[in-house]
Amino acid sequence: MRVFLGITGASGAPYAQRLLHALVEAGCEVGLTVSGAGIQVLATELYDDPRLPRDEVLRRLVGDAGDQVAVYGEGDFSSPFASGSAKVDAYVICPCSMATVGTLASGAMQNLIHRAASVAIKERRKLVLVPRETPLSSIHLRGLATLNEAGAVILFAAPGFYHGAKTIDDLVDFVVARCLDHLGIDNELISRWGTT
Ligand SMILES: Cc1cc2nc3c(=O)[nH]c(=O)nc-3n(C[C@H](O)[C@H](O)[C@H](O)COP(=O)(O)O)c2cc1C
Repeated sequence: MRVFLGITGASGAPYAQRLLHALVEAGCEVGLTVSGAGIQVLATELYDDPRLPRDEVLRRLVGDAGDQVAVYGEGDFSSPFASGSAKVDAYVICPCSMATVGTLASGAMQNLIHRAASVAIKERRKLVLVPRETPLSSIHLRGLATLNEAGAVILFAAPGFYHGAKTIDDLVDFVVARCLDHLGIDNELISRWGTT
């Protein structure tokens, strides 16, 4: 499968890291774009250094999965993911900031992440958004409703606690497993309700 992963500047870097590597482990070819704010949040939440340069953040994030992960800059509209003519199976923005939700809901496209999501919507392809914000304003809620009506799956970064979670990794896996489910990727990251 060919999947686009956009990482924006909402809290939730561990979800993005886990999802990227789960996609790679599932054999996906991944196109990856991280917004400027996304880099700052990854650097803060994963590497404990908000000032870590972009290239170093991406080097650490991708690790040894470089064969399957193509990194595109925020402004790289020559990337295949900027066009509906490229064959892409699914798109996911994880985590998805409210700034990006607002931009997408308005139909604006300021970077490749917005453009890729907008392509997914217009081509009626699978698009999963993983927002993280609390509380939500009526502006956020309207934006999310608009995107849901346009076909996006709104999959909040809101882990359940009913599958025996004992660690933060278990909670991260819960959200990532639901994401993979909606992207159409088989996974056994968590035990399924009713099967144990
Ligand atoms: C450490 C940190 C955490 C943030 N957490 C959130 C968040 O959880 N949700 C959110 O919507 N914005 C959050 N923001 C604000 C966004 O990064 C900001 O609105 C930015 O403009 C988003 O741009 P982007 O969507 O292009 O990445 C956070 C910013 C920082 C620096």
